[in-house]
Amino acid sequence: MKGRVAIITGAAGGIGSAVATALAQAGATLCLCDTAPLDAGAEALRAHGGPVLPVQLDVTQRKAVTAMVAQVEAAFGRVDILVNVAGIVSAGAAATLVEAEWDRVLDINLKGSFLCCQAVIPAMRRNGWGRIVNLGSIIGKNGGNPRPWIDPAEQDRASNIAYGVSKAGVHAMTFFLARELAADGITVNAVAPGPIASAMTTSFPAALQALIPLGRMGRATEVAAAVRFLLSEDSGFITGEVLDVNGGMWAD
Ligand SMILES: NC(=O)c1ccc[n+]([C@@H]2O[C@H](COP(=O)([O-])OP(=O)(O)OC[C@H]3O[C@@H](n4cnc5c(N)ncnc54)[C@H](O)[C@@H]3O)[C@@H](O)[C@H]2O)c1
Repeated sequence: MKGRVAIITGAAGGIGSAVATALAQAGATLCLCDTAPLDAGAEALRAHGGPVLPVQLDVTQRKAVTAMVAQVEAAFGRVDILVNVAGIVSAGAAATLVEAEWDRVLDINLKGSFLCCQAVIPAMRRNGWGRIVNLGSIIGKNGGNPRPWIDPAEQDRASNIAYGVSKAGVHAMTFFLARELAADGITVNAVAPGPIASAMTTSFPAALQALIPLGRMGRATEVAAAVRFLLSEDSGFITGEVLDVNGGMWAD
C-alpha cells in the first residue's frame, strides 16, 4: 500500500474512518471525503506519516466529485484506489415509503457511488492499475430483516426497502464496472457487511441481533480488514466479487 493514493468517501463515519486508519497504517496517501467535517480525523491520521487531504463534499454533486479527483491528481500525481463508503440508512416499508425518501437514498447510496467511480476512471486508466471497493450490504441480498409474519410491528420498525434496493444496485454496478475496467488493470469489488456497530445501527433491534450466528454485531475494523484485502496485491485476480462480512447472517 506504500505510495498508493487512495480516495475514501464517508471517511468521517464508523466504517470509513476504520478504512482510513487501516490504509494510513499501511502507508497509503489519503484523500478523505465526507459531508461532515474531516480536519480532526485527518490530523490524527497524519501521525502515521503519510499525507492526508480532507475534502468536504457531497458525493451526489458531480462537479464537486470531479473537482476533488482533479485536486488529488494535482496534489499527489495519481489516483490508485477508491473506496466508496459514504451512505445513509433509511427505514420504511414499501407500503408507506414516501417518494422523496426513495430518491434521497438512491441518490446518495447508488448515484453518489457511481459518480465517484466514474470520476476516477480516467486517472486509473492512465495508471494502467486501479482498485475500487464499494460498500454494499447484506440488505441488498436478503430482502431485508423484518419478519412481519412473526411480529407485524417489525415491518415498519425494521424494513428498509429503499436502502436494500440502493445496495443491490451497488452490487450490480460492481459487476458491470469489473468487466468494463478489467482490460485496464482495474479491479472492482464490493464488501457486503451485516450489522456493524456504528452510528448507523444504534437503533438496530435486539431481536434481530439475536439472529446473528456469530452472536454479536460486527466491528468496523473487521469491514476495514476485508476492504484492505481487496485493495492489496494479494487480491489481484479477484474482480466483480461481493464479499460478505456478516457474521453468518446470510449465505449465498
Ligand atoms: N453499519 C452497518 O451495519 C452497515 C452494514 C452494511 C453496510 N453499511 C454501509 O457502510 C457504509 C458506512 O456505514 P457506517 O456504518 O460507517 O455509517 P456512518 O453513518 O457512520 O458513516 C457514513 C458516512 O457517510 C457520510 N455521508 C452521508 N451522506 C454523504 C454524502 N452525500 N456525501 C458524502 N458523505 C456522506 C456521513 O456523513 C458519514 O460520515 C455505508 O455505505 C453503509 O450503507 C453499513
